[in-house]
Amino acid sequence: MLQGLESVPSAPGRLPLLGHAWNLARQPLAFLRSLREVGDLVRVDLGTMPMYVVTSADLVRDVTVVQARSFEKGRLYDRVRPLVGNGLATAGGEVHRRHRRLIQPMFHQARIAGYAETMSSRARGLVDSWTPGQVIAVDQVMGELAIEILSETMFSTDIGEPAVEAVRRNLPVILKNMLVRAASPKILDHLPVPPNRAFDAAAAGMRQVIDDVIAGTRRSGRAHEGDLLSVLLEARDADTGEALTDEEIRDELVTILFAGTETTASTLAWAFHEIAGHPEVEKQVVAEIDEVLGGRPATIEDVPRLTGIRRVLDEVIRLHGVTLLMRRTTEEVHLAGFTLPAGTEVAFSLYALHRDPALYADPDRFDPDRWLPERRKDIPREAFVPFGSGNRRCIGDAFAWTEATIVLATVLARWQLRPLPEHVPQEAASAMAHPDHVPMQLHPRTPTSRS
Ligand code: HEM
Repeated sequence: MLQGLESVPSAPGRLPLLGHAWNLARQPLAFLRSLREVGDLVRVDLGTMPMYVVTSADLVRDVTVVQARSFEKGRLYDRVRPLVGNGLATAGGEVHRRHRRLIQPMFHQARIAGYAETMSSRARGLVDSWTPGQVIAVDQVMGELAIEILSETMFSTDIGEPAVEAVRRNLPVILKNMLVRAASPKILDHLPVPPNRAFDAAAAGMRQVIDDVIAGTRRSGRAHEGDLLSVLLEARDADTGEALTDEEIRDELVTILFAGTETTASTLAWAFHEIAGHPEVEKQVVAEIDEVLGGRPATIEDVPRLTGIRRVLDEVIRLHGVTLLMRRTTEEVHLAGFTLPAGTEVAFSLYALHRDPALYADPDRFDPDRWLPERRKDIPREAFVPFGSGNRRCIGDAFAWTEATIVLATVLARWQLRPLPEHVPQEAASAMAHPDHVPMQLHPRTPTSRS
């Protein structure tokens, strides 16, 4: 027997006018995790706009796979549109299908094998530049490395240079303000408060730089063969022969830069932190790297052999994953025993799902061994979806995994990273539950430190 939306239980702590926006802005991760106590489908008010959060693995699958045809991207994406426009992550319907087909070849296995060389040499350049005893901000260093790797693989470096600079400058500002902006009532957007001004200025700055890159490339007629910009510039619609507009190209470039950097950088920063805090895991991982690499640079062939690193990365991404994703119904949908009319905003948190005690024993514990084959088989497939699922699944999953594995192996082969006692990294929510700050000290690995 289906019930109407008015019967969906509401999250506690609703305030007049603000709804739950306050809770979501103040303590987003704790708030999102608390919702499963309320039910499988929970009403959360963003200002005066209701959003329905699904909290179980089955329902997330229902929304993203089984009934995906009845959903489009929702409000979160409307709110980041000033930044990424109508790129792959935000576009819907036919535009999404067409652009995804166009961009997909950039992520084919053969391409990733080529990118692996860049990933390995950039990572080696980084570890060669370090000195014993030096303290580095791992979060920042990994952020810059991720941007450099992305720009060298997706955009030819000379074309990408100004874009890289713009991302380096603007991305942290955008990420810091994004979730607050998505959660707060739209009416607040126009208030000239610092978070809004900072977000708008950073978004405009990034778009401007990319526009200049596209215009410059068109003027000079010198696209670099095979890079993402040239693929987009040369693309023609199979039926109409139409090319993409400069605006469409810009939106795709910003989307890739935006989607591909913080995610990977945050995963790497947490991985170094967690490994340093678990000496047993560190010992195993370093022994594996020594055995597989034997002192030579990491290549694409090594990635599947580094199974211990894979388990560490699976566990890091389970614990510190994507915070909040949204959809909107395009027609009437039946979900969790309720009828959702067209236009209903639906959301889910992969972060909260991956810490559900019904799915994971001792869910807050860092335990890479839960991914050993004999234990992994007990975790249902729909319970671990760090890259989403269905037709909106991440296009960059293999790219991210290859990069993270090669960077970890290259760094750990040479250096031991020790945390500084004065700061324990805290989770801060933006697209990912990324670490606020990860200062670590570098010690060269010696045969004794491996024993
Ligand atoms: C650890 C790293 C990463 C994580 C955890 C991650 C996670 C995700 C998730 C969960 C989605 C689905 C969003 C939704 O369903 O609404 C997504 C989409 C997407 N990701 Fe990633 N991502 C990562 C790295 C990357 C990289 C490296 C790139 C590009 C180089 C990338 C590009 C994209 C794009 C373009 C989409 C939109 C796909 C579409 O809607 O067709 N991501 N990502």
